[in-house]
Amino acid sequence: MCGIFGYIGKKNNAVNIVLDGLKTLEYRGYDSWGIAFTFIEYKAKKEIKSIKIIKKTGKIGGVVLSEKVRSNFALGHTRWATHGGVTKINAHPHLDCSNKIALIHNGIIENYDEIKNELISNGHNFRSETDTEVAVHLIEENYNKLKKQKIKNKKQKVRLRDDGSTFLEAVRLAFKRFAGLNAIIVMDLDSRSIVAAKNGSPLVLGKGKDENYLASDSHALQRHTRDLYYMEDEEIAIVKRNKIEIYDVKDGNKKNKVNFHRLTCSYKLDGKGSFSHHMLKEIYDQPKIINQIIRNPDKSLQKIVQLIKKSYGTYLVGCGTAAYACLEGTYIFSKIAKRHINYSVGSEFGYLVNYLTNKSLVLALSQSGETIDVIEAIKKAKTKGATIGAMVNVYGSTLCRLSDHQIYLHAGTEQAVVSTKAFTAKLAYLILISFSIIDKKDEGINLLSKSIISVNDILNDEYIKKISKLVKYLNRYNNIYIIGRGLSYPIALESALKIKEASYIHAEGFAAGELKHGVIALIEKGTPCIAFLPNDETYGASLAGAMEMKARGGYIVGISYKPHEVFDCYLPIRDCGIATIIPSAVVGQLLGFLLALERGINPDMPRNLAKSVTVK
Ligand code: F6R
Repeated sequence: MCGIFGYIGKKNNAVNIVLDGLKTLEYRGYDSWGIAFTFIEYKAKKEIKSIKIIKKTGKIGGVVLSEKVRSNFALGHTRWATHGGVTKINAHPHLDCSNKIALIHNGIIENYDEIKNELISNGHNFRSETDTEVAVHLIEENYNKLKKQKIKNKKQKVRLRDDGSTFLEAVRLAFKRFAGLNAIIVMDLDSRSIVAAKNGSPLVLGKGKDENYLASDSHALQRHTRDLYYMEDEEIAIVKRNKIEIYDVKDGNKKNKVNFHRLTCSYKLDGKGSFSHHMLKEIYDQPKIINQIIRNPDKSLQKIVQLIKKSYGTYLVGCGTAAYACLEGTYIFSKIAKRHINYSVGSEFGYLVNYLTNKSLVLALSQSGETIDVIEAIKKAKTKGATIGAMVNVYGSTLCRLSDHQIYLHAGTEQAVVSTKAFTAKLAYLILISFSIIDKKDEGINLLSKSIISVNDILNDEYIKKISKLVKYLNRYNNIYIIGRGLSYPIALESALKIKEASYIHAEGFAAGELKHGVIALIEKGTPCIAFLPNDETYGASLAGAMEMKARGGYIVGISYKPHEVFDCYLPIRDCGIATIIPSAVVGQLLGFLLALERGINPDMPRNLAKSVTVK
């Protein structure tokens, strides 16, 4: 959460470089943004008085700066608010009292209160309501103290410009005090350096010639440099125009071996193409991605199959949409491979790790590979000696680096905050893995091929028109209920999530059998009830659920391979055996997307959400 980007170097358009970087990171947070900048004349001795700041609330996507500003030293931030409302003052960067240090932050400083009180009593002037601002004032406080000590020690009369070492120490001491998971980037006018530190939240350094970059995601750096260093937790870096050095936060020791990775694969932002929205494009990408998974699956697929076969307990872990893919995995493995696979949402897994051993396999599912609840879960599992596999879309992400084996989804960039194609790609892999466990991979391929045809049927003008007509009805209600059994249960949950996050209508997915245990009390005349009714053993019982809702006045939308008189609206999908879950999910995605449009909401960036959830 929160996108951060920094630049120091030979170019004179640092503000624009940072602005463009932030645009590629906007999916990490988009309630406000800001850039701190200045121009350093390296040969001139004259002091720069203060750092300049641009801050705005709202999205950064379409922003073009009206005037050209000369700058070669800048950092910027797109915010997803945690502490303090969405205001210009609360937007980052934050400045110290002298306006010579600027800071951007991703994370939560859990002990900010105690530090803030201390700094206020020392005379610091706070301008915002954020936890972040304590960081910049604490650094200022440390820096001033350390500078004074230095002068005293050397008995100097004239203070020399800091070469960066004092500033680095000031940031290190401050960072050591912060409780929680944080990443900060701080620029200092005096030493003309940037210092970055991380614990939990991601940070990547990019090395150029006479210039260096910093960002929260590697793809933001790709257009500038391919020499990347993924900072580890408890590392602190000093970045100047022509130097990058890494130190240990705990003891301040310099790391002598710093291996930059040469990025070989491209992570190109796909753009929207001819589509109105990223979400729509990503929905339409799905047949192509599934086809690619069938024809050219990731090379680690077989390795994961072997690991599952030999493990004593496999656990699927993910959050949100990825968690529903995990839950679906339990049904798929049970049905196809006759295997009991456990499942947990990332944030709960840490409380369940007691039963893990060094024979356990934990398979983490994540589009971004940066979701903190998953990362934390994996770290805990590692302490138990479990083997870690990851199914992930973003190359080089934290999860990839933490795991022993990775299956890349190769789904292309997923830019819409609402996840679509990463979900169906995960389902396709789970199906392929299950069939591979029983040495019947071709059977899986055959069903997935059928699912492509079915998705293409749905992504057709007539079908979309039908859903568009339906959403006009759905939009009249505040609550939508969605039922499914077996394989369709996770799809009911996922479809409800798509509707909630894209359109802000309350939708509730549940196991059809649970209807009569409580939820049915909410059904009244006209209540929209969506039922997934595939051609499997759940059909009869789920249909009974649909009938029960109809009997209470419910408006029944049947998503099924055949029509039925109980349906007020019928959305057909082909029967593709177990792979029917894929077209079913696509119908749920379209319902969310079209409902959002009907309500005038941009489904690419729904309120309160961010693409990478890197805070707890
Ligand atoms: C829903 C959505 C979120 C993510 C969740 C996990 O549309 O996008 O629920 O699925 O935050 O994200 P990843 O997959 O990046 O770990």
